[in-house]
Amino acid sequence: MPAPLLQLKEVTKRYAASGGADGVSVLAGITLEVARAETLAIVGPSGSGKSTLLQIIGTLDRATSGEVLLDGKNLAALDDLQLAAVRNQQIGFVFQSHYLLPQCTVIENVLVPTLAQSKAESRKLKAEIPAACAERLLKRVGLGERLHHRPGQLSGGERQRVAVVRALINQPQLLLADEPTGALDHASATSLGQLLVELNKEEGVTLIVVTHAMELAKRMARVLTLSDGRLAEAPSTNIQAPEKLQ
Ligand SMILES: Nc1ncnc2c1ncn2[C@@H]1O[C@H](COP(=O)(O)OP(=O)(O)O)[C@@H](O)[C@H]1O
Ligand SMILES: [Mg+2]
Repeated sequence: MPAPLLQLKEVTKRYAASGGADGVSVLAGITLEVARAETLAIVGPSGSGKSTLLQIIGTLDRATSGEVLLDGKNLAALDDLQLAAVRNQQIGFVFQSHYLLPQCTVIENVLVPTLAQSKAESRKLKAEIPAACAERLLKRVGLGERLHHRPGQLSGGERQRVAVVRALINQPQLLLADEPTGALDHASATSLGQLLVELNKEEGVTLIVVTHAMELAKRMARVLTLSDGRLAEAPSTNIQAPEKLQ
């Protein structure tokens, strides 16, 4: 069996106390394996640590203890510069807010992550040149006519699709999405969820989605619940109707 793309072993996270406050223990020992090209949803109530977990997986934060292995590399052993390279090359992020640069066009926004790397490094194993890849993916998500528009000229759903393309532009192994449909109307949320799963298949990118929207979570092959700092298989009887959560 091929090694999993991602392995977490007894990962804990504790935020240190500040001022007179007590410290908070958010993750109490997370063990998880995610295979290449798999789709996984992590659900759980607000404040249960979903974003914290995704940020640790995405190298935006470090675990307090335990191990995170991405493609066999132990993230704890990497310095900040090495982590930044992993984040840029191997991981794509989509958040609830699109974080597009308002003064840049759609295609310029999509190309931003390609600026942070040398040409040799960026395209070592990747045949496609960035601008061609940007155009192909923007067409794929239905924005072929919007390449030179600015974010302010797009709908919320269109902006979020630009954010998805930007997350994929360096052809990462892992796409992490934190409440990606949280700011969208129901129709846009439905089509974004569908698009994420299609791109997972077409681009072969592993997809981890954190959400409280069961309609989105149920599109993923596996759904895990985070509560009391631990992950468990989501029992189907506890799954609320999507319309209550959208
Ligand atoms: N940087 C931080 N410092 C201190 N506490 C934090 C920090 N980030 C998150 N927390 C706390 O950790 C808990 C989990 O937060 P979060 O991961 O954002 O949950 P979720 O995404 O599931 O809503 C919350 O109690 C939150 O207040
Ligand atoms: Mg969150």
